[in-house]
Amino acid sequence: MSLRGVKIVGVGHYAPERVVTNADFERWLDTSDEWITTRTGMKRRHWVANGEATSDLALRAAQAALEFAGMDAADVDCFIVATVTPDYAFPATACLVAARLGAKDRAAFDLSIACSGFIYGLTVASGLIRSGIYRRIMLIGAETLSKILDPADRATAILFGDGAGAVILEAAETDSFLGAELGADGSKPELLYVRAGGSRHRIDRAALDAKEDLIHMHGREVFKFAVHKMIAATDAALARAQLTKADVTLLIPHQANKRIIDAAARYLEMPDHKVVVNIAEYGNTSAASIPIALSESVRAGKIADGEVIVFVGFGGGLSWGAVAWRWAA
Ligand code: UT7
Repeated sequence: MSLRGVKIVGVGHYAPERVVTNADFERWLDTSDEWITTRTGMKRRHWVANGEATSDLALRAAQAALEFAGMDAADVDCFIVATVTPDYAFPATACLVAARLGAKDRAAFDLSIACSGFIYGLTVASGLIRSGIYRRIMLIGAETLSKILDPADRATAILFGDGAGAVILEAAETDSFLGAELGADGSKPELLYVRAGGSRHRIDRAALDAKEDLIHMHGREVFKFAVHKMIAATDAALARAQLTKADVTLLIPHQANKRIIDAAARYLEMPDHKVVVNIAEYGNTSAASIPIALSESVRAGKIADGEVIVFVGFGGGLSWGAVAWRWAA
């Protein structure tokens, strides 16, 4: 029996308990529930408490995925965490999560490509399984973006939330991975970045005063890029899968802005009931947004065997990607 396909056998998600509503922001920012709702579709987001870190959220999502799959962490060969808010610069957050799950001597690494993290991770993990290198991989998207937000910047503070989503991928006879498109353009990193804290700009007094340890974004430029790339990446992934838009039963997009999702869905001719949107509850959780949406959909029984899902995302880099996936129950 050849096991050169891959399928998802477990899903889980977790968001911290603390909820920040649009009304909460009205207390310290010149903003309104009306502006945030109409411009972004967001109503609430979850932020970690002091002392809570990305691996804490990743661990909870991973445990939920293991429970869903009826597996033990020892059954997993490799752990991948997609994040831009790791616990430490190094070691990788995936090492911490694997250890806390009790998985000994397994492969573990982080993947850093901002909001495209889950799409890149799904492609990499599927490749590792389809090539026969690993049999089971835990892929987690996990972020604590509240830690790198400027709460006084109304243009970014309202947008981002914390959370984690996990999937367990397993070798299978039939293949769920149908095709992918990944891309990046690093010519303008400043469109969406944290300037200081890496090897180019250290976090010194001047950087702290300029808030360079926090997220900076040119929202309008990112918006235009996002709509264009969501559509182009979806088309390209479907072409590689030799499918058309009509074959897609569910679109699970990165949750950055309801208007971005609507514009892409319109072009793709996807009616509302075929597009997963949970942005009102979580805001933009970067690499965690797609696996949280997937986990919620699977657990709500919204995905049937054989359905074709397109996962599509974009983010810092700038980067983008889409994966066409046939759901196998
Ligand atoms: O995961 C990937 C990361 N990021 C994204 O995908 C974000 C992509 N961009 C966006 O989602 C949108 O550009 C935003 C939601 C960030 C902003 O929406 P917009 O419709 O593009 O607004 P804008 O930046 O063009 O700003 C319009 C006005 C400005 O005021 P003036 O200059 O017209 O007087 C802003 O200062 O809205 C103002 N504004 C706000 N007003 C109330 C910006 N943020 C807020 C706010 N509350 N929170």
